Amino acid sequence: MLKPNKLANNNFLSSLDLSTDEVLHIFDLANNFKNKKLNIDLGNKVLGLIFDKSSTRTRVSFQVAMTRLGGTTIDLNPTTSQIGRGEPIKDTARVLSRYCDVIAIRTFDHLDLEEYAKWSAKPIINALTDLEHPCQALADFLTIKEEFIDFKDVILTFIGDGNNVANSLILCGALLGVEVRIACPKGYEPNSLVIDKANQIYKNKNLLKITNDPNTAVSGANVLYTDVWSSMGEENQKDEKEKVFNGFTIDSDLLSKADKDAIILHCLPAYRSKEITDEIFESQKSRIFDQAENRLHAQQALLSCILQ
Ligand code: CP
Ligand code: NVA
Repeated sequence: MLKPNKLANNNFLSSLDLSTDEVLHIFDLANNFKNKKLNIDLGNKVLGLIFDKSSTRTRVSFQVAMTRLGGTTIDLNPTTSQIGRGEPIKDTARVLSRYCDVIAIRTFDHLDLEEYAKWSAKPIINALTDLEHPCQALADFLTIKEEFIDFKDVILTFIGDGNNVANSLILCGALLGVEVRIACPKGYEPNSLVIDKANQIYKNKNLLKITNDPNTAVSGANVLYTDVWSSMGEENQKDEKEKVFNGFTIDSDLLSKADKDAIILHCLPAYRSKEITDEIFESQKSRIFDQAENRLHAQQALLSCILQ
């Protein structure tokens, strides 16, 4: 029977904390969990959840994943714990890692996540920062693998802001050798260090493309992916971003330029008639809710490796 392997890195802060083989192993485990071919009881392990930003999918999928692994979660709501009062991260991390077996953190500054990891004696999982959303990328590529069986010749086009979700798609795409095209307005390109790291990983050097033209980016693409234009913490930029991102909506016109069997992904939550039309969101091509479900299976697989 398939067993979770121990991961080389203690933490999962970035998509690059996993090797290609580890990502594929997680997909294998996730598929087995999803199809009820695998049942692992880790025995009362505790996952602490620190969410400095709102969450539906990440929070609930982690809670359900831990329950299915025979463990439990503690929601360390920053407003009712001392975290929101400004207790230093290095103190919080040292205390919580004496109670919990693993901690998942959603916060703003990626450096704060790294600070938690520096001081915690237990593994830290990135549940989204402004820089990366690596748990999301695992579920995304699991969904793509379910559709296309392998990643060979798959073209993934992301249309939107080149921030956390796009950065993790780029890095995980590089690990898997998937052609990733990012189309974003000028000034909203992905992080330059992320681009450099991805280009170092890709064996074929022309597989990552960054452009400001969504029309060329979708040409022949197999997967069209988008995310909100204004991320959490950017609420005050909403009006300005809606102007800048005009023309970056996934609609029937853009979809008609993609491969005829292309699928649509969105990490959710979505704003219809902003980054995606309701017609495309609800279309037969959408795999958005399979993708959301796969958050659970991918994270159950990840946790089974981290906690085994
Ligand atoms: N996609 C995602 O991370 O959703 P939540 O913000 O609801 O967790
Ligand atoms: N880019 C979005 C992703 C939400 C899951 C945000 O950071 O708000």
